[in-house]
Amino acid sequence: MLVASSFLTSKNIPKDLKKLNDTSVDFIHVDIMDGKFVKNKTKSFTDIYKYTSKRLDVHLMVEHPKKDIVSYSLLNVDTIIIHVEIKDNIDDLIDLIHGYGIKAGLAISPGTDVDMLDKYLDKIDKILIMSVVPGEGGQEFLMDSVDRINKIKENISNKNILLEIDGGINNITKDYCNGVDILVAGNYIISSDNYETAINSLRQ
Ligand code: DX5
Ligand code: ZN
Repeated sequence: MLVASSFLTSKNIPKDLKKLNDTSVDFIHVDIMDGKFVKNKTKSFTDIYKYTSKRLDVHLMVEHPKKDIVSYSLLNVDTIIIHVEIKDNIDDLIDLIHGYGIKAGLAISPGTDVDMLDKYLDKIDKILIMSVVPGEGGQEFLMDSVDRINKIKENISNKNILLEIDGGINNITKDYCNGVDILVAGNYIISSDNYETAINSLRQ
């Protein structure tokens, strides 16, 4: 199991990112919020390369992601994820991401019909299943995410799409995530005494 760490609940981002750098975590999950698609707003983390050498998994919770796609494409990014609920042209944005040689992902919020993903399944590399309402860290895992994982899994059948889950993941809820390739965990890792122990407990 691959693990990505979010740092949304960190009180000292440079310090925590440096600590994460010394762990086996596979990716740093960067949550970007515009105060419109979700109520909270984050600052831009485009100086993140100063604190981490890990590859980035960028989750854009923004209505108009083009600008962020362009700025993050310059960093050590593995995947850029946009939300399937936005009104901008998603095909064009996926093409823009791919044009930089970066994997493109689509995130889906808990209230959104999973069939919304169908028309993009031939062009995306990853689906980010939100197991909390996007907008803040430290929330509880929504149990109906288990059904959503199974449905999405069925829909993507033999396609080469990674499944990632985000929100409320800890050493207990990870057991509800069978069939998922990557777990995103924020608060569980950041609030632990030993990051490496917490990360390894998610891999088992
Ligand atoms: C929620 C974010 C998540 C969140 C995960 O809007 O997309 O990435 O930070 O954090 P935890 O693990 O604390 O739910
Ligand atoms: Zn996220």
